[in-house]
Amino acid sequence: VNLRTYNTFGIEAKADEFITCNSIDDIKSTLKYLKNNPQPYLILGGGSNILFCKDFEGIIIHPQITDITLLKQDDSNVWLEVGAGVVWDDLVEHCVNNNWYGLENLSYIPGNVGASPVQNIGAYGVEAKDCIESVNGFYIDSTEAFELSNNECRFAYRQSIFKSELKNKTIISSVVFKLNKQESYKLNYGDVKEQVESFGKVTLRSVRQTITNIRKSKLPEPEEMGNAGSFFKNPVIGIELFQEIKGQYPTIPSYPISEQLVKVPAGWLIEQSGWKGKAIGDAAVHSKQALVLINKGNATGNDILKLAHQIIKDVNNQFNITIEPEVNII
Ligand code: EPU
Repeated sequence: VNLRTYNTFGIEAKADEFITCNSIDDIKSTLKYLKNNPQPYLILGGGSNILFCKDFEGIIIHPQITDITLLKQDDSNVWLEVGAGVVWDDLVEHCVNNNWYGLENLSYIPGNVGASPVQNIGAYGVEAKDCIESVNGFYIDSTEAFELSNNECRFAYRQSIFKSELKNKTIISSVVFKLNKQESYKLNYGDVKEQVESFGKVTLRSVRQTITNIRKSKLPEPEEMGNAGSFFKNPVIGIELFQEIKGQYPTIPSYPISEQLVKVPAGWLIEQSGWKGKAIGDAAVHSKQALVLINKGNATGNDILKLAHQIIKDVNNQFNITIEPEVNII
């Protein structure tokens, strides 16, 4: 199977076998097959957070369950069970259409619902964890079903149990979201509030449109330019190092995490290191958002990785901060 159309970086790679699971029964029979034929496996959703640096010698499992079920509701909330294969932005659109509040700031994020809890996707002051009630799936080894509550998922910034203790050990079949029926907005990130208001009345629709516009202005469309969104995580550093850097670069943006810790934007660090808009061959740093690496056409996974390593090295030399990839590197 050629994986080029299954990863938003548009990297050429092959897999020995590729199985699409359209139902819970498909997942169960695939896990049974895997148990009887042990081999390397990879769960692949929308392919929007992955970099293939070589062919995958094993089986790729692609969950495609696309049901959206209204489980229950009361005066304030609705609970929706959403199949792992639902396109994330289709879910956001569905919620906005129904006047359910919570996910609108996460508009226009590429990828599928099944990946949203894994790296706890986040943007513009909201994270998936803010609306996730529970996550359903199967343990790959035992083939047993699980349901993990929000708490049990141990969500943190771009982190969850599915990326730590349970890394590569589960397949997520659906996610239950709890959404608000009552009007409420989160507009305190950057200049989001001003931008929404300049649009006119603040509504679910106008927030969704504003966020979509911001993303479109900064982030390249995978169809036009292969990419996987932010390639790096924003690093969290100690306050002493932060003060030291701020002495030299008074305009460094930052978000306080605690008394001792500060998060700084990797995009800013990369821009300061001179890499914004630069390329090594077809592997390049996006000119409008330095956090995003792009495939200008025929870059291989290793070309992108080489560029990433050079950036990590230069940022480290200049700021004494080691930035880490957010993207899964295979
Ligand atoms: N900045 C620069 N130069 C750049 C990019 C950013 O100086 O090239 C500065 C900006 O001026 C701003 C600050 O860095 O002061 C933050 O920039 P931005 O609002 O674009 O957000 P980010 O921290 O770079 C994070 C997420 C994005 C998400 C945005 C908005 C991570 C790793 N990335 O980026 O998520 O859309 O915030 O909430 O946390 C993704 O994960 O794929 C992704 C796009």
